[in-house]
Amino acid sequence: MASIARKLRRENKTVGFVPTMGALHEGHLELIRQARQMSDAVIVSIFVNPAQFNDKKDLERYPRDLAADAAMLAEYDVDHIFAPEPGEIYPEGFSTYVYVEGLTENLEGASRPGHFRGVATVVSILFNTIRPDIAVFGQKDAQQLAMIRKMTRDLGYETEIVAVPTVREPNGLARSSRNDLLSLEAREKAAVIFASLREAEEAYQKGERKGAKLVEMVENAISEESAAEIDYISLVAPDTLEPVDTIGDTPALIAAAVRFDGVRLIDNIILEKKQ
Ligand code: PAF
Repeated sequence: MASIARKLRRENKTVGFVPTMGALHEGHLELIRQARQMSDAVIVSIFVNPAQFNDKKDLERYPRDLAADAAMLAEYDVDHIFAPEPGEIYPEGFSTYVYVEGLTENLEGASRPGHFRGVATVVSILFNTIRPDIAVFGQKDAQQLAMIRKMTRDLGYETEIVAVPTVREPNGLARSSRNDLLSLEAREKAAVIFASLREAEEAYQKGERKGAKLVEMVENAISEESAAEIDYISLVAPDTLEPVDTIGDTPALIAAAVRFDGVRLIDNIILEKKQ
């Protein structure tokens, strides 16, 4: 992969990179379309990264189907698929990790210890291998996006980080490979997550600025669905992930993690004044 990327650079081609863990869906395809628009060559990585799973069962049941993913990508204008084996990314004796302090400890970081260290480490290895001009990430994983932006700045990567809005199912549920683990019934019920975030957004647009009120509104709406188990609902600053008590002039992010059928789903919405 490194020599292919080097050749692309020698040919003066700009490289757009989309890192994935496979089980590709419309959300990934949107990232690929964005990369395609912005670069001469598109590289997609498919690697279920063991270092970012703190729960072994979660890693084992993560959907994997490289043939189906490759078939899906054949219909898109993807130049290279990089699907390494775990031993290529983490060779025998591997012991160097990237840890982004500060914005990885709360929200997902609190529920999934070690998760962001695993993500930062693998993205760093992939960036070093490919050295892309741009890398595209989804807004759904808002904390991951903020962390990658920070890591890129702190470690001096020359890669531009591009964010793409969350792609949703017709009922509003954020697209995720985990949705396939839900029963049809739970998949319908889980629509309450986005519906409740939209309620908070409406209240914000009508003038509500108190974090506690907005969070309570989301909690109440989700709790009406008895199948939902809330992990957290938080109002934070989109770049630092620090809690926000009262929303001022800058945008804020309401992030939610909720379990349905034992499957942990995350979603978020940015609250910002309409122009
Ligand atoms: O968002 C994901 O799918 C993963 O966290 C990523 C960025 C591919 C790293 O393994």
